Amino acid sequence: MEGFWDGCVSGWFLTHYAGGRIIGQESEDRGQKTDFGADKMTNSEKSWEKRLSGQRDELMVDFVQSLSCDKRLYKYDIAGSIAHAQMLADQKLITKAELKQIKDGLLEIEQEITEGRFKFDKSLEDIHMAVESALIKKIGEAGKKLHTGRSRNDQVSTDLRLWMRDEIEILQAKITQLQKAFVKSGSRYTEAVMPGYTHLQRAQPVVVASYLLQFVERFERDFIRLGNCRRLGNISPLGSGALAGSTLPLDRKNTASQLGFSDISYNSMDAVSDRDFCAEFIFDCALIAAHLSQLAEDWIIYSSSEFGLVLLDDSFCTSSSMMPQKRNPDVLELIRAKAGAVYGSLIAILTILKAQPTGYNRDLQEDKIHIFAAGDTVESSLDMACAVVSHTKFNTERISAGLEEGFMDATALAEYLAGKGMAFREAHGIVGSLVAHCEKSNKKLSELGPDEFKKYSSLVSEDVYESLGAARIVGKYITEGAAGPKQAKEQIAYWQRQLAQR
Ligand code: ARG
Repeated sequence: MEGFWDGCVSGWFLTHYAGGRIIGQESEDRGQKTDFGADKMTNSEKSWEKRLSGQRDELMVDFVQSLSCDKRLYKYDIAGSIAHAQMLADQKLITKAELKQIKDGLLEIEQEITEGRFKFDKSLEDIHMAVESALIKKIGEAGKKLHTGRSRNDQVSTDLRLWMRDEIEILQAKITQLQKAFVKSGSRYTEAVMPGYTHLQRAQPVVVASYLLQFVERFERDFIRLGNCRRLGNISPLGSGALAGSTLPLDRKNTASQLGFSDISYNSMDAVSDRDFCAEFIFDCALIAAHLSQLAEDWIIYSSSEFGLVLLDDSFCTSSSMMPQKRNPDVLELIRAKAGAVYGSLIAILTILKAQPTGYNRDLQEDKIHIFAAGDTVESSLDMACAVVSHTKFNTERISAGLEEGFMDATALAEYLAGKGMAFREAHGIVGSLVAHCEKSNKKLSELGPDEFKKYSSLVSEDVYESLGAARIVGKYITEGAAGPKQAKEQIAYWQRQLAQR
C-alpha cells in the first residue's frame, strides 16, 4: 500500500486548499460553499457531511477511510451507478441529457482509474464518494443527481455482490485448473501402487492415481460451494437506500436486471446490513485453504528422505543459506501457513457480524479487508498449488521397493477369511495373531507357507496368495470408488469429460 497515497495530498485536497486559499472555481464545481476560513479545514467541505462542523482531524481521515482498500471496487461501483442512473432516467427522475452526461462522465472516470490517471483522495473516504465527487467535478449539476434514491449503504452492498460474482468465477476457474492438473498427473499413475495411510501409519495399498483423485473430489465440493454462494448472493439490494427504501418511484427490478442479478432483496432493512454472503464466501475460501494445506502437509512429509514418496520439482524448492545439501519445500509450507490467515478472516467477519444492531453500522466497512484478503490469498495459493502439482513426480521405484513393509495386506487377508465364511471379528483376530507371528519370525504374510496358515485357520487354502502382497491387492478392490486401478481409470475418464466442459 506504500505509495498508494502518494499524490493524494497533492490531489483534491491541496488543489482546494493550496497555500491555505480556496480555489474558487473548483470549489464551485463541487457545489461547496466557500464559507469557511481559508486556513481552517472543516467537515462541511464534504458535500455529504454538511451537518458536521469543526476542524477535520487527519487522524480521523486516515482511520475512517476505506478508499485504500475499496478502490479496487471502482468498476463495480461505476457499473452500479450507470444502472442506477439509467433507471432514474427510465423513471423520469432525471432527463435523458442528464443520463448521458452521467454515463459519459462515469466512463471517463473509469478509464482514468484504469489507466492510473485518477487522483485518489482519502479525505473522500471511499470509492463511492471518490467517484461521485469526481463526477460532480467533471459534469456539475447533473452529477449531483446521481445519488437520488440511493445511499452508500445499498451502494456498497451492491458493489460487493458484483465483485464477489466475478471473484467466484476466478476462483472456480483456478480450482478447475488445479483439478485438471491432478487428473493429468493421476492418469500417469493408474497402476502405480503406494501405501495408503491412516494415522500416518501404513494402512492399505492404494494406487497413486486414487490418492491424487481424492483432491479432485475435495475441490469439486469447493467449486460447488462457491457456486451456491454466488447464487445466494446474486440478489440486488439497490433501491433499499439507507435502510427504509425510498419515497421516490425507483424501479428496483430495472437495476437488478441491468446488473445481471437474479432477483431483488425483499426487505430493505435486511438488505443494507446483510453480509451473509461475505461470511459464506470467506468460509468457502477457508475450506479451500484447508484442502490446499492438507495437500501441502502431505507432500512436505512425502518428500522427506524418511518417506521419499514424491519428488518435488527443483523450481518449487528452496535451499538453505547454511546447509548446502538442503532442498526445502517452502512453497508448500507457505501454502500450509496461509490457511491460517484465511481462517483469521473467517473469524474476523463472523465477529464483525455478531454484534451488529439492526441497520447499517460502520463496522461493516471492515468486511472488505477480509473478503479481499481471503480471495487474494486463496487465488495465489491455488495458482501455486496447480504449478506444484503439474511438476511433482511420484518416486514409483522407491515406493515399490518398500511397499511390502508394514503388513498392508492384512485387511485383505481378513476379508479373504470372511469371504470363506468366517465371522469378520474372528478373521480380524486370526490375522492379528499371524502378523504378530510374522513380526517375531521376521517374515511377510506372503512368505508364510500353507502349513503355517493352516495352524491358524483351516479355511486358508492355496488361493490365499492372491490376497497377499500389497502390489497385488489393489487389483482385487471391487467396490465402487475404491482405491484400485480399475476405479481410478473410471474416475479419470469421468473427470476428463466433466472438466473439459468447464
Ligand atoms: N465505506 C463504507 C463501507 O464500506 C460505505 C458505506 C458508508 N455508509 C455510511 N452510512 N457511512 O461500508
